[in-house]
Amino acid sequence: MTFPDAPDGLTLRPWHDDDAPGLLAAATDDELRRWTSLRVDDLPGAHRWLAEQHRGWADGTRYSFAVHENGSLAGHVVLKRPDPHARAAEIGYWTAAHARGRGVARRAVQAVTPWAFARFPDLDRLELLHQVDNPASCRVAVTSGYALQRTLAPWPPTYPGEGHVHTCPRAAAAGTARLGDRTVRRLGFGSMRLTANPDRDLAVRVLRRAVDLGVDHIDTAAFYVSPGGTLGVGTGEKRYAAELIRAALSPYPRDLVIATKVVAAAGDRPATAAELRARVEHNLRLLGVDTLDVVNLRLKRRDTASLGEQFAALAQLREEGLIRQLGISNVRPHHLDEAQAIAPVACVQNEYGVDLRDPATTTLLHECERRGIAFVPYFSVAGTGREAGAAQQTHQAVSALAAAHGVTGHQVRLAWTLRQGPHVLAIPGTGSVEHLEQNLAAGSLRLSAAELATV
Ligand SMILES: NC(=O)c1ccc[n+]([C@@H]2O[C@H](COP(=O)([O-])OP(=O)(O)OC[C@H]3O[C@@H](n4cnc5c(N)ncnc54)[C@H](OP(=O)(O)O)[C@@H]3O)[C@@H](O)[C@H]2O)c1
Repeated sequence: MTFPDAPDGLTLRPWHDDDAPGLLAAATDDELRRWTSLRVDDLPGAHRWLAEQHRGWADGTRYSFAVHENGSLAGHVVLKRPDPHARAAEIGYWTAAHARGRGVARRAVQAVTPWAFARFPDLDRLELLHQVDNPASCRVAVTSGYALQRTLAPWPPTYPGEGHVHTCPRAAAAGTARLGDRTVRRLGFGSMRLTANPDRDLAVRVLRRAVDLGVDHIDTAAFYVSPGGTLGVGTGEKRYAAELIRAALSPYPRDLVIATKVVAAAGDRPATAAELRARVEHNLRLLGVDTLDVVNLRLKRRDTASLGEQFAALAQLREEGLIRQLGISNVRPHHLDEAQAIAPVACVQNEYGVDLRDPATTTLLHECERRGIAFVPYFSVAGTGREAGAAQQTHQAVSALAAAHGVTGHQVRLAWTLRQGPHVLAIPGTGSVEHLEQNLAAGSLRLSAAELATV
């Protein structure tokens, strides 16, 4: 069994019997007795508590770790999973008196969270509970990525006061990054594949499941439509991805960012400002909103000399309040300079993946990090299959890593994508709930530097 990665200066390992004296010393602290249920009064009591932890590991109900800092016992963190079929599990922790004020609890919770999601692929979310009148615990929860979800009524005598339930959904395991003036989870969702299947209810289920698992960044376009559209598939009535998003998710959650895009050309000529306005308005209508969160100007061809006129037209629509933030897509590095000279750029969207590494896009990826711009690669799963999808791809190093970690090659591709920089936002696309869940599980797959170097 693997253990959580050690976060800056901490070591997490299962409790040993020879931790008993350290445990007893920590447990005699009044603060700790006030806020936790830990009751250890003597050495036999310490051994009983340690035996309980060993039983938890053996029967799979609790996975507890002694947290050490610079060789001395600094605290405890535990994943409690009394029901192996439940989609939620609880994280608990305490910090020894001498180690308080140094972020030990936050670092320990942040280490156990991705470990728990990776170890238990069936988990949808983790919960952290604390008493309402303990603001320090509230801070630990929030700074560890556990948002306040609800308040619990008192449950005397064990819990005489109200409690807070904080939760961390699966999509949070990959962390967050800036998207212009918003912060979003690094694992988002691309909606292009949703229209491929005529089963409307399935598309709605996929979208709701994505948000349920914590996705707060969805990519779309008015030309993601079947039949026809970008994928060139389908029969029957027109199904727009943006309209499916509206049907599934409106009224939209407050923290959801929907990014869309408009193409900068009309046939073989550049699009006019009026045409771009009409495209933006079409997106507004399909999504049922007054303002689009993000609009990417998508070049039809990457070797287009200039995007200045079209980007300026979108900047004008931003001034008018139809668009909140702008991005550019399918571009070369000089386009970024050109766009930034006109208006702020929140993101750059280019194709990029294990086997799709155009050197100019690699330059752009690094330049985005330097300039504080989100880089949002597409085809990170499909790779060279592009619109045709992921079915055909094979890659020796990816397959070897997949076998070593017991995951799929698609998950390795996503984990690799997320390792390309802290500013990279993945938007894997799928029309399947099962693939969606696998893609979000890839957020807790950690590839080492040596493993990355093999790809
Ligand atoms: N800016 C642009 O010009 C541009 C261009 C293209 C796309 N995009 C955006 O980027 C998003 C991502 O691109 P994409 O959807 O084309 O490609 P992708 O995410 O790289 O891969 C999607 C393909 O992989 C399959 N797939 C996904 N997850 C899988 C899994 N866990 N196991 C097996 N197969 C899996 C999908 O099939 P299933 O449906 O069967 O899962 C589909 O064939 C799009 O949805 C769209 O929002 C932007």
